[in-house]
Amino acid sequence: MHRKIRTYPDPVLAQIAQPITEITDEIRILAEDMLETMYADNGIGLAAPQVGESLRIITVDLSGPDKREDPHVFINPELHDLKGEVESEEGCLSVPGYRTNVKRAECLKLCALDLDGKPIEMHCDQLMAICLQHEVDHLDGILFIDKISKLKRTLYERKVKKWLKQKKDDEK
Ligand code: NI
Repeated sequence: MHRKIRTYPDPVLAQIAQPITEITDEIRILAEDMLETMYADNGIGLAAPQVGESLRIITVDLSGPDKREDPHVFINPELHDLKGEVESEEGCLSVPGYRTNVKRAECLKLCALDLDGKPIEMHCDQLMAICLQHEVDHLDGILFIDKISKLKRTLYERKVKKWLKQKKDDEK
């Protein structure tokens, strides 16, 4: 089932998500829904808070919504051994209408569980490393716009205020 994407400034996006203690049917359904939503909304990564669930689960498929060849579900993901620095343009389904350059570590080690509860350990670099840092940030209540300069942030906030006002006016 496709779920609605929560967008900034929805408070669920600023919460620290809870670890998953048991992989229940509910969690399996959530993972399936997250993949479906990620593809439908043209993303390569999604974190559960983005669909309103404050739980530590993320989905990633770098092959994109057309190919859908490499779907991953990572439960309780942790990033270790972050090394190097890269800067690349990022966007986020929860931050519509905005893209900007963000600095991230270049490579890292991912530790997580898969949907069967089996431990995963993966060394990642390039887009996978960047995507994982972006998604795990979501689980800690951090958006990529929390990592940009104050000036850029102020400009974005102004845009959001305008949209919210527009929405209110439209609803009148
Ligand atoms: Ni995002």
